Amino acid sequence: MDITEQVTYNTVQKLKKEKNAIVLAHNYQILPVQHLADFIGDSLQLAQEAAKAKAEIIVFCGVRFMAETAKLLNPEARILLPVMEAGCPMADMLTAEQLIDFKEKHPGATVMCYVNSSVEVKAVSDICCTSSNAVKIIESLPPDEKILFVPDQNLGQYAAMKTGRNIIVWDGYCMVHHHKITLKDVDGMRMEHPDYTLMVHPECPPAIFNRADKVGSTKQMADFVRDNDKVVLGTEVGLIDQLSEMYPEKNIFPLSIRATCLNMKKTSPRDVLLSLIEEKHEIVIDPKIADAALKSVQRMLEY
Ligand code: 13P
Ligand code: SF4
Repeated sequence: MDITEQVTYNTVQKLKKEKNAIVLAHNYQILPVQHLADFIGDSLQLAQEAAKAKAEIIVFCGVRFMAETAKLLNPEARILLPVMEAGCPMADMLTAEQLIDFKEKHPGATVMCYVNSSVEVKAVSDICCTSSNAVKIIESLPPDEKILFVPDQNLGQYAAMKTGRNIIVWDGYCMVHHHKITLKDVDGMRMEHPDYTLMVHPECPPAIFNRADKVGSTKQMADFVRDNDKVVLGTEVGLIDQLSEMYPEKNIFPLSIRATCLNMKKTSPRDVLLSLIEEKHEIVIDPKIADAALKSVQRMLEY
């Protein structure tokens, strides 16, 4: 840590105590932000952590839909998003109005929304999921249930492949996993590291996940790396930075160094500090929308 980082770190620790605050960070945040966090994890873990937190303030270092989910699950706490512009372009690929139209075209279907969606979309969905529990939740639904999966086409197709269910997907995607990780990267990795395990995120397209040895969420990847060596990870590079720091003796590579989520990289340690000092930017959700959205998130957490 350089001197500026150290001062920021110390001040953040002091403010956390004074204000009864905690910092949660997603696995894709830059390392200096991860270092400030009380808990680092995938979307599901962060939602669970926010739900049980007793703190008055939760500074959420991630993207907006994650902070909104934290607010749904812990309405008593003040949820702060250090950079208001940190959004998820995939979540913006579907509006509540578009989902209502989609539902009208497929009457009687159950709507499953990936947590990477707006709170308004969650409010008109039946059940939410993350990349770590989508398959499990679908398996628990009646076998003849027609399912609409939004907004990620790739996670929806992955879940359909794993469960053999009839799933109609929205055509959203994550720019990072859909465009920055290619078949050429897989070919190159197989040539250069034939003895490595390739694990990819289910937001990658079928052409990629069908060629991987393992598929999982960022937590499932971290768990796999904890117990194994020689792993190539097809996901955003922040996770690889974290794991390389945690296990310097292990051989862990990103499948693509171009896989950077600009939104996840918008938050700096200074933003976290300012967020704590000025108590900004507070997440506020219309209570009617929050009520409906919470139902779909709670149904997920019951699994
Ligand atoms: P995880 O839940 O696997 O951390 O994924 C979140 C995400 O946004 C992936 O792009
Ligand atoms: Fe959204 Fe993709 Fe960034 Fe995840 S990596 S937050 S899905 S844009």
